[in-house]
Amino acid sequence: MDRTPTPPREASDFEVGAAADRPVEAAGDVAGGVAIETRQLNLWYGDFQALFDVDLRIKQGIITSMIGPSGCGKTTLLRTVNRINERLGYVRTTGAVEVLGRDILAPEVEVVQVRRHVGMVFQRPNPLPLSIRENVLFGYRIHEPAARQASRGELDAVVEDALKTVLLWDGVKDRLNSRATALSLEEQQKLCIARLLPLKPTVLLMDEPCSALDPAGTEAVEELIWGLRGEYTFLMVTHNMAQARRASDECVFMLLGRVIEHARTDEIFVTPRHETTADYIEGRYA
Ligand SMILES: Nc1ncnc2c1ncn2[C@@H]1O[C@H](COP(=O)(O)OP(=O)(O)O)[C@@H](O)[C@H]1O
Ligand SMILES: [Mg+2]
Repeated sequence: MDRTPTPPREASDFEVGAAADRPVEAAGDVAGGVAIETRQLNLWYGDFQALFDVDLRIKQGIITSMIGPSGCGKTTLLRTVNRINERLGYVRTTGAVEVLGRDILAPEVEVVQVRRHVGMVFQRPNPLPLSIRENVLFGYRIHEPAARQASRGELDAVVEDALKTVLLWDGVKDRLNSRATALSLEEQQKLCIARLLPLKPTVLLMDEPCSALDPAGTEAVEELIWGLRGEYTFLMVTHNMAQARRASDECVFMLLGRVIEHARTDEIFVTPRHETTADYIEGRYA
């Protein structure tokens, strides 16, 4: 596939009025840079504390998986990185969350700016009850000023590019105006990834993206994500140890709202430093 990798964006893109497509260092120069950093991140739902002093540095251009028992705060952490949690009036957060060096919780940063850079894919595919084409263009129309002046042909090119990237184009190109909800779950999840791409996000958050899929669908979506690494930074929650092991470069193990261990995936699985990590990956937790 002929796609020129998009260099990751700069933190200054978050500033109001900053040029969205300002050129940045070549991707090779920033490989290993930090895409997401949290410092002393704490989060409460009302009186219940769900995250404790989370200090994480998620590297740019790789896949980082997040594992840990149900209820340990994986989804909460992901949702903090694109500020979904704040919709709930009873959530309180302290500490910092930076995306490419910019504190996204700062009062002057608007949530729409964050969403341009940080896309999220959920457990259940959630296409809008619109056509395949309109699903791909939906976020683009909202967030990208150029979309308003774009010709039909330009929008068609955006749709084609995004659907080709997620390997869906050949299967759907003759029915772009059909309802997205009629697609198979695997196709729907690929579409949910595709609709993030026209905004050229920096970070793609994935919350158990394959948990609703059958093994073939899981493999297809994993392969897709693997093929997009380098171009995007992935932070992916999974409850599937085999998936974390084969489909991520680094792995974060959480327990009871804390990060216990963060290391290269092979190290975590072969030589975990903490006993609780070993217990979890060997299946001694529920
Ligand atoms: N919207 C919410 N309101 C109150 N408590 C919540 C909410 N979402 C999650 N929690 C609680 O926060 C903790 C972490 O949940 P979650 O982040 O969903 O864990 P995980 O994704 O690791 O299973 C759990 O104890 C859960 O019950
Ligand atoms: Mg969860």
